[in-house]
Amino acid sequence: MSSMTLAAEQDAAPEDAEDGVWLACIECGATFAPFDAVRYRCDDCDGLLEARYADPPTFEDFEGEGVWRYSAALPFDEGVSLPEGNTPLHYVPRLEESVGVNTLRVKHEGMNPTGSFKDRGMTVGVRVAEELGVDRLACASTGNTSAALAAYGARAGLETLVLLPAGKVAAGKVAQASLHGARILEVDGNFDACLDIVQDLAERGEAYLLNSLNPFRLEGQKTIGLEILEEFYADEGRYPDRIVLPVGNAGNTAALFKCFRELVRSGQLDADEVPRLTGVQAEGAAPMVEAVENGWDHTERWDEVETRATAIRIGNPVNAPKALPGIRETGGTAVAVSDEEITDAQRSLAAEGVGVEPASAASVAGLRKLRDRGVVGDEEDVVCLTTGHLLKDPDAAAEAGGDPEPVPNDTDAVLERLGN
Ligand code: F0G
Repeated sequence: MSSMTLAAEQDAAPEDAEDGVWLACIECGATFAPFDAVRYRCDDCDGLLEARYADPPTFEDFEGEGVWRYSAALPFDEGVSLPEGNTPLHYVPRLEESVGVNTLRVKHEGMNPTGSFKDRGMTVGVRVAEELGVDRLACASTGNTSAALAAYGARAGLETLVLLPAGKVAAGKVAQASLHGARILEVDGNFDACLDIVQDLAERGEAYLLNSLNPFRLEGQKTIGLEILEEFYADEGRYPDRIVLPVGNAGNTAALFKCFRELVRSGQLDADEVPRLTGVQAEGAAPMVEAVENGWDHTERWDEVETRATAIRIGNPVNAPKALPGIRETGGTAVAVSDEEITDAQRSLAAEGVGVEPASAASVAGLRKLRDRGVVGDEEDVVCLTTGHLLKDPDAAAEAGGDPEPVPNDTDAVLERLGN
């Protein structure tokens, strides 16, 4: 049976496991020692790799706070930390009412140290980089990964290199990468082209790649799912029916699916308790939605992509082979939303005090659309993931918000302006 099902059996640790951890190819099942060499894909078939554990954890194994609370589910006990995780699961009563579901909670990953969920992956990825003894870290990025890599690399005292699509990265993210000391190369091409180049550099041994193609990044991001399940259960006495999230490279979708598979294997969750993974993309960059709608097990690369939600302006989601089974196996779906729908959702979240960047608001826009279509029922308990902070993209926020009004330097004139 494929390893990418909720029902898959726990496999025995192979000989090359280290402390109960190994890497396995999701396509051919080949296994590899986790830290004897730098490896991003299967030596035999080029398939994607994932970390496997001899003892997948239950909630009883967790203690402490943040990402490293979940060390029983991670390859190490601690790592370079700023610290990350432990983000709020907001109540949004007005939005819940207007969308029309039983429960709506918003997991605001913008509250991580560099303002996005990428920090969860970086704390683990940089720990692995230290284990491997590499000296230069690199990534392609639509912005947030570069900010996180720059900060965690700086913290670890490692050189960082980021490749960005020229002119298509929000101002806050470039500023972060720059101030944290990354070398920034702006490529005349989109994110997918940047990722092609970084993969070439990594293959030539020029840098250690910390995009979500790196299986250890996803181990850190898995903790989003663990936090959601623990906190939702503590508040509501049950697990959510559905988790809705924006999709770009599909790393988070893959990470959440892996989280659920491990909890089912450890006996912590029943397969029918697993939330439906529901991915949202922008209409101008929706290869995952295309694949889900057509029942494909792969995505077709979109060469031309465009959306105001620049974080998810991606046409070739590298983690699709891990994420598509996640959507299918959990009974989820995927939906595309327009830039206008994204901006509306950004305003609705802001009206509840939750400030997010455009890509993040795609989750709420997608939920609204699926609710309108009747795909999501009014009895459902839903968690929307908001992946990045409002200040990441100040231009988009200013455009979505109201305009400042110039007034004279005079109280009476101010009162007049206020309409008194
Ligand atoms: N939301 C935000 C704010 C992001 O920055 C990203 C990805 C996603 C959603 C999509 O997540 O790739 O796991 O499906 N940003 C990457 C970057 C590509 O370079 O910062 P995914």
